[in-house]
Amino acid sequence: MGNSSTSENTASDEVRVWVNGERVSAEAPAIAALDHGVTVGDGVFETCKIVDGVPFALSRHAARLDRSLAGIGLPAADHAVIDAGIASVLAGEPIAFGRLRYSVTGGAGPLGSDRRNSPLTYIVTAGSQPPGAASGKLVVVPWVRNERGATAGLKTTSYAENVVALAYAQKRGGVEALFANTVGNVCEGTGTNIFVVVGGEILTPDLGSGPLAGVTRDLVIRWCREDGLTVREEPLPMSVLEQADEVFITSSTKDVMAVHAIDDRSFPAPGPMTAHAAHIFGRLSRERLDP
Ligand SMILES: Cc1ncc(COP(=O)(O)O)c(C=O)c1O
Repeated sequence: MGNSSTSENTASDEVRVWVNGERVSAEAPAIAALDHGVTVGDGVFETCKIVDGVPFALSRHAARLDRSLAGIGLPAADHAVIDAGIASVLAGEPIAFGRLRYSVTGGAGPLGSDRRNSPLTYIVTAGSQPPGAASGKLVVVPWVRNERGATAGLKTTSYAENVVALAYAQKRGGVEALFANTVGNVCEGTGTNIFVVVGGEILTPDLGSGPLAGVTRDLVIRWCREDGLTVREEPLPMSVLEQADEVFITSSTKDVMAVHAIDDRSFPAPGPMTAHAAHIFGRLSRERLDP
């Protein structure tokens, strides 16, 4: 990690940033200090994968943004504004593999949790990122997801809980944390959904257990079923991790990622069902760019 890696990384590390109608420098301030997204995390966001300059599943991400905004009681977003931002950050040199992220916040607000009916703030960014590892370890964290919380299942910018959990997992050699929910069932990771394979069936926590309705999760469920696999969404006690033959996680930038360990327990990675699910997802996501 000397000087050469710093200079080599300059082009690929560049994050293109667009705020409220303008391209801005990634380093320079572009958001008001009293933006409610900054002061209290009053906002929502989406992250989409970019492959060869093309973002994946834009319509599904737009629909989830609408659900998240409605869920926290902010007005509907103007998608023409978001689309202009997306076009701006994707213009120019195509990003071979990366992340498109857009956020919509409550705009100017008071310092407290009450809102002023301000115009929404729109932030759109795009940048390269290295493709994820083939497999990773999960670490169960000592904190729970509240499946009955006001923001359960919403992709809000209040992610400090995830920051704390991921740091805990990384400190213990994990690539991702795993949360149970308040009744001791499996929920999700900080930015991923989880699937387990038991007796040849693929199981994943139902949405009532509190996970985000991941775009990748939904497509994996749908496409694996279309391929004849059994996939069930249901409450899963944490003890299912003792019975699981395989485990995998999903997200927009990780796709289907095998899990080789959860804490001290090891798993084959990828196991045969995980490899199959990854193959189906890889093939169909290349064929159907906005499924
Ligand atoms: C908490 C949480 N769960 C799951 C996911 C996976 O969702 P998706 O497949 O839509 O990326 C994310 C996305 O980053 C997330 O933030």
